[in-house]
Amino acid sequence: MKKFYLTTPLYYVNDKPHLGHAYTTILADVLSRFHKMAGYEVFFLTGTDEHGQKIADAAEKKGRTPEEHCDETVEIFKALWKKLEIEYDDFIRTTEKRHTDVVSKCLQKLYDKGDIYKSSYSGWYCIPDERFWTEKDLVDGKCPDCGREVVHLEEENYFFRMSKYQDWLINHVKDNPDFIQPDTRRNEILGFLSKPLNDLCISRPQKRLSWGVPLPFDPEYVCYVWFDALLNYITAPGYLVKENEFNKWWPADYHLIGKDIVTTHGVFWPIMLKALEVQPPKTIFAHGWWLIEETKMSKSLGNVVSPEYLVTKFGVDQFRYFAMREMALGQDASFSPESITDRINMDLANDFGNLASRIITMIKRYRNSVVPESGALNKEDEELKRNANELPDRVFELVSQMKIHLALDSIIASVRQTNKYIENNTPWDLAKKGDDERLNTVLYVSAEMLRRIGLLLFPVMPNKIKQLREFLKTDEPINFESCREWGLLKPGNKVSLEESLFPRVMMESPQKTETEIMEKQKEIHDYVTFEEFKKLDIRIAEVLKAERMEDTKNLIKLEIDLGGETRTLVAGLAKYYQADEMVGKRIVVLANLKPARLHGTLSEGMLLAAESKEDVRLLVVDGDLPPGSQVH
Ligand code: MSP
Repeated sequence: MKKFYLTTPLYYVNDKPHLGHAYTTILADVLSRFHKMAGYEVFFLTGTDEHGQKIADAAEKKGRTPEEHCDETVEIFKALWKKLEIEYDDFIRTTEKRHTDVVSKCLQKLYDKGDIYKSSYSGWYCIPDERFWTEKDLVDGKCPDCGREVVHLEEENYFFRMSKYQDWLINHVKDNPDFIQPDTRRNEILGFLSKPLNDLCISRPQKRLSWGVPLPFDPEYVCYVWFDALLNYITAPGYLVKENEFNKWWPADYHLIGKDIVTTHGVFWPIMLKALEVQPPKTIFAHGWWLIEETKMSKSLGNVVSPEYLVTKFGVDQFRYFAMREMALGQDASFSPESITDRINMDLANDFGNLASRIITMIKRYRNSVVPESGALNKEDEELKRNANELPDRVFELVSQMKIHLALDSIIASVRQTNKYIENNTPWDLAKKGDDERLNTVLYVSAEMLRRIGLLLFPVMPNKIKQLREFLKTDEPINFESCREWGLLKPGNKVSLEESLFPRVMMESPQKTETEIMEKQKEIHDYVTFEEFKKLDIRIAEVLKAERMEDTKNLIKLEIDLGGETRTLVAGLAKYYQADEMVGKRIVVLANLKPARLHGTLSEGMLLAAESKEDVRLLVVDGDLPPGSQVH
């Protein structure tokens, strides 16, 4: 059997997933299902990237240990994938032993063969991004990537000899046009490789960051998060552990990624594999960005689109269809409430949903819900049938070329053609005239078309197509063969229409004002209800004692008076406050946060602070309210 191994990036668990993450995962699921329908044995891998500074910081901010934080956040990802009907074959977390054990072995192997060496480093470092920069990389003295402060570092570290493999990689990219796709990204990588490649710093001293895989040859250091995470693509299928299984799947057919992570995947990763003497993957495919109207989606702009919201508002299959139809793979796409509304109403409600309801309704009305036997086909019937015969191959070809939006377009074109066929053949007139034989044929041809076209949409809309199969009482296997074959809809089936498959969604008025668009836009985000807010017990507290926790990077232990009750809090503020400065302040505390143990101390609540790019300041009260006062 032909195999198909595809992966998504491993998502960082510093925050919950948004439209961009949902998109890549839906794309992988759709490709996986199309390949299963085409008879491939598929291995679809996704998971989470759990080490490194980003995650350690996110945990500290929440007053959790990194382990607790990851365990909680990974569940949010898994729950969303379930909601989105994602059927992955494996979910890997980079904190799992099956992964870290093999990462250690790979590091040791590269160290033993001299591809990892120790050297001193002096230069600029962006702590939140964990990236090193040279003086000339900096923009206004700040990180060129995220615009945040950088610090000057001079330290010993371990380096991976990437430069040694630069020529090999250039040749590999040139000789294998499919290796990095689309071509814009391939050219970007060739441009990047035209300059001398620096060796990659792959260690972080434990004293600065302990949340990572320890280097097996020097436990004073942990492994750089990207070096650890990329290896998941081989650790999950069993590299060095289950050789048969690994050899069955590797090389991966597709690594699906977003365009922002092309360098790590197109340069670091193939060189890591080459050094390990493992074949490179077949294709690294980078999709574009989802833009909100025309701007980048970002937390600071407050325009992050929540996939949960889209599912609740539009339905899971409708959202999946929109995501796949709207983005031409490789290019950016724009999300707006209008674009999703229009797409659902046009393609699904007007075309496909309408086709399904009118056919089933006519069979009900004219044939007492029983699928009739077809008479002889005329030229027009034959032509419709012939077009549908060719459709499955065309669809799979477009899918294999990563032109999913065009594959869907050709399916919907076939839906429109069938709708037109019904209009040309006017079954309602045939019924009036009593032309039973022709009526039976037109009804059967239309219904059989509906069955075949519906199956082709299964990878994108699995729930709705299952529902359609229940309406038509069909249970043929879900594969391309069943789409190709004519006549699998059995005469005599009793059809039903429980409900409309795709109700229209609220149409926007064409002359909307700017403010209306903005209002609508806001609706897409996650709102907190008053009920949810009421659950928070926020109170004023006075800091009685404060002490810096030795051996931690940023923690201060506080004793606070919450109005007659003394509690201990641990806060990650040592970068911004001296412990002494905090004593006597009336601060604001979330008193009913689940207690968490941080570096051995139980923290019973969380103080609130405001953060800008440069600083963090405590929230205090305007006036003299006693400790214990409630904040509403
Ligand atoms: N952890 C790394 C990947 C390691 S893979 C071994 C990472 N994680 S991420 O969570 O930040 O991003 C995951 C993916 O989401 C990336 O492919 C990124 O391109 C994608 N997206 C993030 N925002 C996006 C949009 N606005 N639109 C589409 N995808 C975008 O990077």
